[in-house]
Amino acid sequence: MNTVARKRRNTQPEKRTRTASPRKKLSSAQVGIPARPITFPKPQNADRYFALNNNPATTLMFASFSGIFPPGEQFFVESVRRYRHQISDERLKAAVSGFIGQESLHSREHDRLNDHFKAQDMDTDLPEQLVKIALTTLGKFPPRLQLACTCFMEHTTAGLAEQWLTNREFQTTSDPDMLNLWYWHALEELEHKSVAFDVWRSVGGRDYELKLAMMLVISTVWVAWLTGWGVLMARDKQLLNWRENARGLWFMFKPRGFLTGIAATLWPLLQKGFHPSQQDTSELENQWREKLFGSGGHIEDLYAG
Ligand SMILES: [Fe+2]
Ligand SMILES: [Fe+2]
Repeated sequence: MNTVARKRRNTQPEKRTRTASPRKKLSSAQVGIPARPITFPKPQNADRYFALNNNPATTLMFASFSGIFPPGEQFFVESVRRYRHQISDERLKAAVSGFIGQESLHSREHDRLNDHFKAQDMDTDLPEQLVKIALTTLGKFPPRLQLACTCFMEHTTAGLAEQWLTNREFQTTSDPDMLNLWYWHALEELEHKSVAFDVWRSVGGRDYELKLAMMLVISTVWVAWLTGWGVLMARDKQLLNWRENARGLWFMFKPRGFLTGIAATLWPLLQKGFHPSQQDTSELENQWREKLFGSGGHIEDLYAG
């Protein structure tokens, strides 16, 4: 087997194969959700405002996302793990293992990235603490509703991931030293986007729970994230930076902008018979597995496969 072929074997998980016996214990890689233990180097040369050509509002938006990921992903993992013992389907069991492995590694790397932000006087502890309060509130609801909240947040994270992987404006105006971690995270969000939903359905999740979860998450977690972003902006003395704020807000909120693009994915969630796989991202995932881990890929050297 030549080098390219060997590399392709390593980077292309045996995605959603249907040839294995359902009784055989499957690995998370065999169901297309491998945990890739990558330690990203500190972005030594990145500009302080790494996004959208030195734009503070956009950079602080990403910093606030990075701040809320570790507690958010811990919530996701706990809400799924709680039902792990009830899953009998071998494929879903393996997918859950992959989901937990991937999310745990995302949290670890965002913790490390947050140390970088804090060293640059962008205190990601603020959005993190606010989101912890929001998640504590969600934690008071019944476990299956908490899992529905995770389904909703995983759906919006998958929407965010598509933006990371397809938004050329974001990709071409942000510091390359910073981008690889976000690309890796985005790819894995798409790989595991159906897992929480499949677990929730397998334990009897009902449509009304998803609608309720949407309202709960928007009124707690989204408010906490937005507040955290606003506080970071205020602390950085950026609130009156009209010109740059207008540029950043246009990038995010223009038609099909970075955030409005995600809003468009909310409607299908409310439709009867919704499943995350209806938004087919498999080709995008294939492209990015190759771009990241293929021969000469962005982070080929960081991941042995
Ligand atoms: Fe994640
Ligand atoms: Fe996720």
